[in-house]
Amino acid sequence: MKILLIGANGQVGYELQRSLACLGNVISTDRKQLDLTNNDAVRAKIAEIQPKLIVNAAAYTAVDKAESEQALAIQINVDAVRVMAEEAKRLNILLIHYSTDYVFDGQGKRPWCENDNLAPINYYGESKLLGERAIQETGCHHLILRTSWVYGVRGSNFLLTMMRLARDKETLSVVADQIGAPTWSRHIADATAQIVAQYKGSHSQLDDYWSLRSGVYHLAASGQGSWYDFAEAIFQFMASQGEQVAVLSQTITADYRTSAQRPLFTCMNTDKMADTFDIRLPDWRGSLDLVMASFDSEA
Ligand SMILES: NC(=O)c1ccc[n+]([C@@H]2O[C@H](COP(=O)([O-])OP(=O)(O)OC[C@H]3O[C@@H](n4cnc5c(N)ncnc54)[C@H](OP(=O)(O)O)[C@@H]3O)[C@@H](O)[C@H]2O)c1
Repeated sequence: MKILLIGANGQVGYELQRSLACLGNVISTDRKQLDLTNNDAVRAKIAEIQPKLIVNAAAYTAVDKAESEQALAIQINVDAVRVMAEEAKRLNILLIHYSTDYVFDGQGKRPWCENDNLAPINYYGESKLLGERAIQETGCHHLILRTSWVYGVRGSNFLLTMMRLARDKETLSVVADQIGAPTWSRHIADATAQIVAQYKGSHSQLDDYWSLRSGVYHLAASGQGSWYDFAEAIFQFMASQGEQVAVLSQTITADYRTSAQRPLFTCMNTDKMADTFDIRLPDWRGSLDLVMASFDSEA
C-alpha cells in the first residue's frame, strides 16, 4: 500500500515515519520536497504518487505568531488541506489529518466531546477549525484526529523547553490554570498506525467501512493536568536523576501575557476513539516518564 506522509519532519510526522513503516510503502515529504503554500504542487504530488492513503502531519503550529500571520496559517491549515481532501475524494482514498483541542473555547470543566460547540479563541485554533470544515465539505473519506499539548524527543515543544530552562534558570513560573492532556507524539503515531492497519484490512469494502467511520475523533492522553503539573513532573524526574533544577512556582494566565489567548480547559473525551477503533492512550504521567527515561538511556 502506498502511503503519502506529508510533514514528515514535524513531531508527529517524524514518529509516523517509524510507526507506518511496516504497513506499506511510505513516501514522506517535508517542506523542502512539498511546500504547502503551493496548492498546485500539492495537487501534482498526489497525482504523481497515486497513494492509497494520505496522512497529513504538516501544519502551521506557531500559536502566537498565527495572530499576525493569518494568511499564512490559512494557506497551510486550510487551503492546502482542502486540496488534499479534494484529491482524496477524486482517488477514493482515506485522508488522515490532525486537529487541535484549541478549536474549543476552554470554558467549563467537562471533557469536550467531538460534537460540542466549536469556538476557538485564537487564530491558530480558528485556522485548524476551518481546515476541519474544508475536509468535511469535500465529502472524502477522512479521519480528523484532534490531539493536544504534543511533546516528544524532538522538535519544538514544552518538554524540551522546560528541560533547557530547568538547567539554565534559577527560578521559573509556569501557568497553573490552563488544564489539558500532554500527549506524546509517538503515541499519536502508533495509534494512527493501528487505524491504518484496520484501513488496510477494510480495503475491499472501502466505501461501506469508511462512510461509517469517517469523521472527527479525539486522540489525546488520558488524565489531565496544568502546564505547571507538566513542568513539575519534568523537574521531578530530572531531580531524581541527580540534576540541579530551577525552583518552580505557579502563575496564572491573566498574569502571563502572550499574543494569542489560550483556552483554559481543553481536556477531551476520547470515548469515540475507544468505541470505534479500540484505542485509548495511556495516562500522560506514565508516558512522560517513558520519554524522560529514553533521554537517560540515550545519553
Ligand atoms: N504541537 C502541539 O502541541 C499540537 C497540539 C494539538 C494539535 N496539534 C496538531 O498535530 C499535528 C502535528 O503537530 P506537530 O506538533 O507534529 O507539529 P510540528 O512539530 O510543528 O510540525 C509541523 C510540520 O509542518 C511543516 N510545515 C509547516 N509549514 C509548512 C509548509 N508551508 N510546507 C510544508 N510543511 C510545512 C513543518 O515543517 P518544518 O519542519 O520545515 O518547519 C513541520 O515539520 C498538526 O496538525 C497540529 O496542528 C499539535
